[in-house]
Amino acid sequence: MISVNENCFFLHTRHTTYAFCITKYGHPEHLYYGERLDEPDAAAAPLLALKRTAQVGSTISYSQEDLNYSLDILPLEYSSSGCGDFRNSPIEALMPDGSYSCDFLYTGYKIMEGCHPMKTLPCATGTEDVAALCISLKDTRNEAELDLYYTVYEKTDVITRRCVLKNRSSSSILLRNLASMNLDLISQNFTMITFDGGWAKEAHIHKRRISYGITVNSSVTGNSSNRHNPGFFLAADGYTEQTGNVYGFNLIYSGNHQGLAELSGHDTVRVQLGINPHCFSFEVKPDEEFESPEAVMTFSSRGLGGASRHFHSFINEHIVRGRWKKRPRPVLYNNWEACFFKFDEKKLLSLAKEAKGLGAELFVLDDGWFGSRDSDTSGLGDYDVNKKKLPGGLTGLASKINSMGMKFGLWFEPEMVNEDSRLYRAHPEYAVVIPGKKPNLGRNQLVLDLCNPEVRDYIVEHVGQILDSASISYVKWDMNRHITDAYSPCLKNQGEFYHRYICGLYEVLDRIFSPRPHILLESCSSGGNRFDLGMLCYSPQIWASDDTDPIERLKIQGGLSCLYPLSCIGAHVSASPHQQTLRSTQLSTRFNVAAFGCLGYELDLNNLTLAERREIKEQITFYKKYRMVFQYGTFYRLPSPKDNKVCWQCVSPDRKHSVAGFFQTLSGASEGPDVLMLSGLKRDISYTVSTKPQNLYIEQFGELTKHVLPVELNPNGLILHTANKYYTLTDCVEHYRGKGALIMAGIPLNNQFMGSYYNENTRLLGDYGSSLYIIEAEDA
Ligand code: GLA
Repeated sequence: MISVNENCFFLHTRHTTYAFCITKYGHPEHLYYGERLDEPDAAAAPLLALKRTAQVGSTISYSQEDLNYSLDILPLEYSSSGCGDFRNSPIEALMPDGSYSCDFLYTGYKIMEGCHPMKTLPCATGTEDVAALCISLKDTRNEAELDLYYTVYEKTDVITRRCVLKNRSSSSILLRNLASMNLDLISQNFTMITFDGGWAKEAHIHKRRISYGITVNSSVTGNSSNRHNPGFFLAADGYTEQTGNVYGFNLIYSGNHQGLAELSGHDTVRVQLGINPHCFSFEVKPDEEFESPEAVMTFSSRGLGGASRHFHSFINEHIVRGRWKKRPRPVLYNNWEACFFKFDEKKLLSLAKEAKGLGAELFVLDDGWFGSRDSDTSGLGDYDVNKKKLPGGLTGLASKINSMGMKFGLWFEPEMVNEDSRLYRAHPEYAVVIPGKKPNLGRNQLVLDLCNPEVRDYIVEHVGQILDSASISYVKWDMNRHITDAYSPCLKNQGEFYHRYICGLYEVLDRIFSPRPHILLESCSSGGNRFDLGMLCYSPQIWASDDTDPIERLKIQGGLSCLYPLSCIGAHVSASPHQQTLRSTQLSTRFNVAAFGCLGYELDLNNLTLAERREIKEQITFYKKYRMVFQYGTFYRLPSPKDNKVCWQCVSPDRKHSVAGFFQTLSGASEGPDVLMLSGLKRDISYTVSTKPQNLYIEQFGELTKHVLPVELNPNGLILHTANKYYTLTDCVEHYRGKGALIMAGIPLNNQFMGSYYNENTRLLGDYGSSLYIIEAEDA
């Protein structure tokens, strides 16, 4: 809801209020962002505003008529440049008058039902309980206007912000920075929480205390990057996962981004988010306009978890669109880790048969099916099926998979080309290179120039043809290198390259997938190089990481879960020891972690023992039963006082069904009690809590089998090795019941194995062990 009272604007969501007013000179002054204020009116403004009763030393007065009015001190909704605000400016532009100075003042506002669509970039969507406000500003000296858009997503407690710079003068504006949002908050001793890493270690949580100066979270790789996800939080002093004030920010954009928090000398914190100004300069010609990407903000007084849940429902409701919105994601099998580039139809069909038998719903053929693609050195760009590997072509393979009762999905990397490819030989000018410079390669490949309309047409046509040539229900769209040598002969101004590349990508995605709404698109960029809201506008799920080691995934999926719902996070079970870490983990733990996401399997199913096959079949059945709880339930990162434990929980919307995961990283000797601290249940109804029964492989006990079996067996002997393929023990199953309030007070769990003694009530976790707990309302 948006209300306007004199020159004050109040934006209300279900639990938050955002307020600003227009000052006597016409600057939009930020007043408040926090818990919902009921029915404030214009009288609230003098109360909420920062007082200006004295002149602050070393400041520049905006006007000699009011020496206390300095832009450097004002909390601003947007700031200009060169008028006395020395904090980081959200705008930097060479204006028609030849200066870098601008001063945008208020001219009026407009309120609109629903969101106001963008022309050049994807943005959030929604009509019901959605309203938009446009604040129009105009530069004092140049014919330039700046529109600030605020869209209020009432039910999901999110407000989005973006701006549009319009050039109404007769000469160009050269834009070097245009942040999507500017927000000046009074300092609450904030900690900035960011999601950083690299390949195979994406989105690890990092926390930094905001100190004087600028703390930056940015990417310059040409994509949103696995180095620093565009989403971040500012958490007030004393916050926890469950309590305290937390502000969350993210950007609907897949290119170079920059988010920052600047603690000023006057103890306000300026937050900005938008396109990274690095190598950016955009010519806005007369009568043209430039749209910034849309930034997303939320606030919760219920800690990091509260802010995360706002983002989850916002993304499920207003970012993911099309046929897959709120739809259950299929359990898939992907052949990559089983085959890499080495496969033929026989091998694929044998994997597919196994996958079907285990319960998979979708078979995904990954890299290596086209051109001369037998390694990552050649073939990218040539999407003609390799008839040696697939004599019946994609059509033949897809129909065989379909007749087994599974959908068929396909991998592409359409933005890239190998020098050793027919496409490159025919069209070297399609690749991104700087004339006269030998280009740098990444994974032996070059980037295709999406600034070039001919290249975009080529991709749309060729990928489209393949998609229509066979029964393809899913596409994994990969992008396996960062951008260097940024240059396009199609551009006069190379400062526009990175932004126009991303606009080109969005155009291509739209042209390929809008006419084919049945296709589920999963974005991937060497894992999570493009885990961002821009891609989620096209692809309802994203491959989180090439690293499927469950213990690493606790950090990766745990980090991503702060910003994105589980319905978007691709998570697979793969082989052990793991290909990235050499770590051996239990099959149960690999599943228990992957279940908190969109489940898939990626190991060679032909190598499974009978016992493993039985276990996977049971896992998939269980996942399908609780799929909607995992993918769309309310997600909690549960408190755990111990560093070697991670606990997650998903709760169905009616709060009658829930699953919690209890994960142990390294085990400790003779540890004190483990307490399961559940959340989100109804306090006054009764629930049962029981462990999901899971297998223990006897071989894992080595000489300790004497503690767990009635017979003593040689740990290296044939009997144990053979028995391990067929027989398993069941891990301890606990049962509890009680009212929600009691259960949520914390359940001390049974003891873990401590060396000397074993019985069926002892939890056998060890290193990397885990359990799932199923919580059901008794009247469900
Ligand atoms: C990237 C992806 C993998 C796989 C390979 C294929 O690394 O992240 O999942 O698709 O490419 O080359």
